[in-house]
Amino acid sequence: MTTRSLTPVKSGNFETFSWFFMRVSALLLIFLVVFHLLYMHIVIRVENITFRTIVDRWSGPLGWFWSLYDITMLFLALLHGANGARWVIDDYIRPPAWNTTLKVVLYLFVFIMLIIGIQTILRFQAGVM
Ligand code: HEM
Repeated sequence: MTTRSLTPVKSGNFETFSWFFMRVSALLLIFLVVFHLLYMHIVIRVENITFRTIVDRWSGPLGWFWSLYDITMLFLALLHGANGARWVIDDYIRPPAWNTTLKVVLYLFVFIMLIIGIQTILRFQAGVM
């Protein structure tokens, strides 16, 4: 059983910040993800989405807005998920060597996903395609 939902269990500024970050990012993600779902799945409709639809959205007149929107969602979801996974690793993987190895793999994975995601979104800005 964890007491994390009630109070930060580890001490230190970083752990306090990480506890707040989980709450704030969760709240922001609710709005970002629900709007994303309604817009992409109901307004545009899944059957109408093609590679062109997405590229036009990023490179059109409101391209800056959609790029910022998607990058924010990418950052928050990845960092929220990674921080949560770090908690799970610390809770369940006690041997220091395994604990560190898993966290290094996790951080590398998140870093690579962030780079791939950001460079994909920014590649299709106005004038590039
Ligand atoms: C609307 C979207 C989301 C909401 C509202 C949300 C909410 C939360 C909250 C409030 C916590 C803290 C729980 C605690 O302190 O015990 C949490 C933990 C966590 N979240 Fe999210 N989350 C969302 C999206 C995601 C996504 C996209 C991922 C994965 C990529 C993720 C993975 C995790 C993990 C692994 C934990 C840690 C669980 C644990 O400590 O046992 N969440 N989430």
